[in-house]
Amino acid sequence: MLSGKKLRVAVLVSGGGTNLQAILDACADGTIRHAELVLVVSNNPGAYALTRARRAGVPALVLCRRELGGQECFERELDRVLRENRVDLIVLAGFMTILSKDFTDRYEHRIINIHPSLIPSFCGKDYYGLRVHEAALARGVKLTGATVHYVNEIPDGGEILLQKAVEVFPDDTPESLQRRVMEQAEWILLPRAIELIASKSICTEN
Ligand code: GRF
Repeated sequence: MLSGKKLRVAVLVSGGGTNLQAILDACADGTIRHAELVLVVSNNPGAYALTRARRAGVPALVLCRRELGGQECFERELDRVLRENRVDLIVLAGFMTILSKDFTDRYEHRIINIHPSLIPSFCGKDYYGLRVHEAALARGVKLTGATVHYVNEIPDGGEILLQKAVEVFPDDTPESLQRRVMEQAEWILLPRAIELIASKSICTEN
């Protein structure tokens, strides 16, 4: 799996990129020691995540599904850039495109995703963004959280790697809950998962 001393990571994004920022910060402060961020790919040309990547000196590019002529061409091009950059691990951090079975099979146990709930609650193809937190509040759960899982063809259905619980407060709004889940769970879990996978791979390799 490894092509060098560190695990080569690509992060796929679509939006603001606060999780990407957490990974960049973790690389800078040594929380992530066994992996390096070699590429950021966005399917959205307007994603602020692209600015974050470029500011940190990480190569960032846009692959737009519509411009490329659909999902199949998009995935072919994505596969090409991942190979070209010798990427070992793909991290979905707020990436709003569902990947096909063909693609996830090809990268089995090499793609992880962060989801803002405790899977199997509030997950699957209809649960993204604020919807997840709206559903948690509507159900009246007292604990929610975030999950890092491997990615397969089932949305949010792959093997669970890490989870962290976060308290729900009586006066929470979807926005306040989203913020707390990010601060207390997502931004901690995702860098931790990358380092976990990378350190295991390095040790196995050695
Ligand atoms: C996060 O809540 C993440 O869990 C979900 O999408 C959101 C992305 O936020 N998959 P950001 O772009 O990392 O700020």
